[in-house]
Amino acid sequence: MKYLNPTLILSLLAMITAQAREAKERDKDINYDEKKISSYDLPPLLVAADGTPVTTPAQWHNVRRPQILSLFSNLVYGRVPEPVEPIRTEFKVVKADAKFMGGKATRKDIDITLSNKRGSVTMRFLVFVPNGVKAPVPAFLKHSFNNTRSDDFKSSILRPGKLRNGWPLKDFLDRGYGFCAVYHEDLVRHNEVEFLRGIHRLFYPDGQSFPKAREWGVLSACAWGAMRAMDYLQTDDDIDHTRVAIMGHSKMGKATLWTAAQDERFALAISAQSGCAGAALWRRKSGETLKKMVTRFPYWLCRNAWKFIEQEDDLPVDQHMLLACIAPRPVYIHSGVEDTWADGRGEYLSAFHASQVYRLLGKKGLESKESPPVGKAIIESEVGYHIREGGHSINGYDWQRFMDFADYHLQPKKN
Ligand code: GCU
Repeated sequence: MKYLNPTLILSLLAMITAQAREAKERDKDINYDEKKISSYDLPPLLVAADGTPVTTPAQWHNVRRPQILSLFSNLVYGRVPEPVEPIRTEFKVVKADAKFMGGKATRKDIDITLSNKRGSVTMRFLVFVPNGVKAPVPAFLKHSFNNTRSDDFKSSILRPGKLRNGWPLKDFLDRGYGFCAVYHEDLVRHNEVEFLRGIHRLFYPDGQSFPKAREWGVLSACAWGAMRAMDYLQTDDDIDHTRVAIMGHSKMGKATLWTAAQDERFALAISAQSGCAGAALWRRKSGETLKKMVTRFPYWLCRNAWKFIEQEDDLPVDQHMLLACIAPRPVYIHSGVEDTWADGRGEYLSAFHASQVYRLLGKKGLESKESPPVGKAIIESEVGYHIREGGHSINGYDWQRFMDFADYHLQPKKN
């Protein structure tokens, strides 16, 4: 009984009540009912802006894909403007520990400093490389909510083989992968309102302090940061930069798709429960909507996106087109049955509709419009997917499927 501290109990109750209130507020005017989704027409993937049908890989690569990327840049995530002065990029390995996790891995802490006359910003990039494995190795690069300068990335004493943040590092190492992480707040804060402290200010000419309507929001800045991490990986002989899988969960799953869509150096993408502005289709308006997102996180997207609130049908893109821009590189989408906020069905449909581009490029896509049974992963297709029981998180089952997908598509064939 002496452990039942009344102050602690009261503050726990207050926290639970506040969370319940937040969830209730969040769910106001939200539809979760499949039967209430109005019919919609997706913008055609394989018709160019001038109406010409896109029937060859060359037309896709040279005409349609650039058109789609430009629409996402200008209307959804925001384009990275020309910096006021070129940006210098410096890499510095600030720490290297060859005995990480009982000698299983070498951990490198790398500072990536971006600077020009407007100022400088440093990202802390972490790279774990399996020891005793022939270099260079393929790797995962995670867009991370955990701060790469924090203890979250130490090995866990209570859970051997894991990092303190719960990530199963040893499993990656055992399968021959390196593992890397970038922190989502290194370049721009979670819901930036001024854009004066982070990376944006390096790009502003005199007199500008805020992105223009078509310029980059928070997600674009995160994507740009992962590209700078890839610049570093191209200089690191331990990692095979031609076999890097980019991944992220939720907000970071959105950033993952936008990173991979733009930057073809990433060989594969895994987007976990990315939902609205990630894999889910805007036009379904199921779970989180554009209006909710922009109200709660006004700067994740560019300001042009605000113009489509409750006008989703006017958007010249939908999210299946973002996934298609990753083709022919493999993409994996993960949903959770109880994660209705992220609209698992909309995530699947997006992947299904993107599959037509994979097929045009001679790859395998999702064949059925029906979502697969819960707990059954689709691995042997360039468009992979699973939905499992449970809510908004990456659990042990999910991690293993992500590794299976990478094993199938990134590891050299054994025979
Ligand atoms: C909020 C937000 C989602 C986002 C999620 C997360 O719920 O509405 O769009 O995916 O946070 O990043 O965990």
